[in-house]
Amino acid sequence: MLNRFLAVPLVLGMLSAGAPVIADDLESSLAAAGCVACHKMDGPLVGPSYKKVADKYRGDPAAAAMLLGKVKNGGSGTWGKIPMAPHPHLTDEQIKPLITGILAIQ
Ligand code: HEC
Repeated sequence: MLNRFLAVPLVLGMLSAGAPVIADDLESSLAAAGCVACHKMDGPLVGPSYKKVADKYRGDPAAAAMLLGKVKNGGSGTWGKIPMAPHPHLTDEQIKPLITGILAIQ
């Protein structure tokens, strides 16, 4: 509950700072899934930032399904030579909300 009241000023604060706008629980979900080892919200790490991923696929209706497969099976060549490791231990139901959240970053 408290979260909802805190979220609005937090989001507004981030907007004015020019930082990406991120759904409430996305960061903790990504941390729980182990994605933070290679990705940051903003700025490159091993893989591209989620902000860059969201910008690249904004308005692409096929992106969610493609990215689900890529997170699950791994892959390389879109952002560079470093491959993303496959995540066979995660189910589609676990990955889908992560992708939805990433693509919604503004
Ligand atoms: C071992 C490091 C590593 C981990 C862990 C990792 N990634 Fe990645 N990820 C990468 C790299 C490297 C790329 C760039 C691949 C490419 O160039 O095609 C990438 C690319 C992506 C992309 C963009 C793919 C595309 O085709 O544009 C998404 C979305 C993504 N990762 C989400 C995730 C999520 C969600 C998780 C956690 C379940 C995760 N990644 C965990 C390294 C990682």
